[in-house]
Amino acid sequence: MARLSVIAGKASEELARKISRKLKGNLVKSEVRTFADGESKITLSGKISKGKSIVVQSVYPPVDTNLIQALSLISKAKENSSEVITVIPYMGYARQDREFLPGEIVTMKVLGKLFKGAGTSKVIVVDIHSLNGLKHFTIKTNNVTAIPELVKFFKKLRLKEPLVVSPDQGGKERAKEFAQELGSEYIALEKKRDRKTGKVQIKTKNVDEVLGRDLILVDDMISTGGSIIKATQFLKKQKCKRVFVACTHALLMNDAEKKIKKAGVTKIVSANTIPGKTSIVDVSNTIVKALV
Ligand code: R5P
Repeated sequence: MARLSVIAGKASEELARKISRKLKGNLVKSEVRTFADGESKITLSGKISKGKSIVVQSVYPPVDTNLIQALSLISKAKENSSEVITVIPYMGYARQDREFLPGEIVTMKVLGKLFKGAGTSKVIVVDIHSLNGLKHFTIKTNNVTAIPELVKFFKKLRLKEPLVVSPDQGGKERAKEFAQELGSEYIALEKKRDRKTGKVQIKTKNVDEVLGRDLILVDDMISTGGSIIKATQFLKKQKCKRVFVACTHALLMNDAEKKIKKAGVTKIVSANTIPGKTSIVDVSNTIVKALV
């Protein structure tokens, strides 16, 4: 048996297969049966190595189901392997990294305890929403970025003098990194989100730089699509040319994709941290680099 096992959670089967192939690992797949009450019954397809195991499972919706599956896989891996490393390509709950309103529970703190308790010694994530979330973990962590791979895709489009735009000030550094890698300019809009209703507003008044230019809206994730839709509507009013969207994690809840297209976005490009129609940028090489 190969010394290294790559255990593929059901939520990340394809990505785990790619990682395993690159590491020349022994791929162990999981079959999941869902009981009528929603419980996951996981059965592994092969033997786990005694040496090192790598668990790959994204925590996208259904978030709690995929989370408990990740923890179960880690726990099983730890029964057999001396070392368990966990790859969570999309880390759900990462937005709950601090107490924004009094009484709110910082769920990332809970996750830190759960991952450690399940038996992993390290967690690798891709473009986590907030690095602050990982401060609640007492095991080793590593946040890798999909930006260089996303940029490679956009370089192939050969857009003329594109402008990179962050929909909010929080994403300014991300937009800067993207723009530097692409060799272009960037700006960051001013966004306000109501902490109770979740509704977003663009507060920026005028941006002359966007006039007649192709734009790449860069964000870490798209959930409801609200941020991208509001930003696109604003940028279209400012008479930009086309709006492309680059993001790492495309959750695209409900009919978000349809609404984003309706707002005037030409194309959404995301990474395969979450499988889906828009997830055309592969981050397996990036993850493998963090594993070796
Ligand atoms: C916010 O700070 C994030 O970077 C994203 O912009 C946000 O989480 C996306 O959520 P939605 O698509 O629901 O606006």
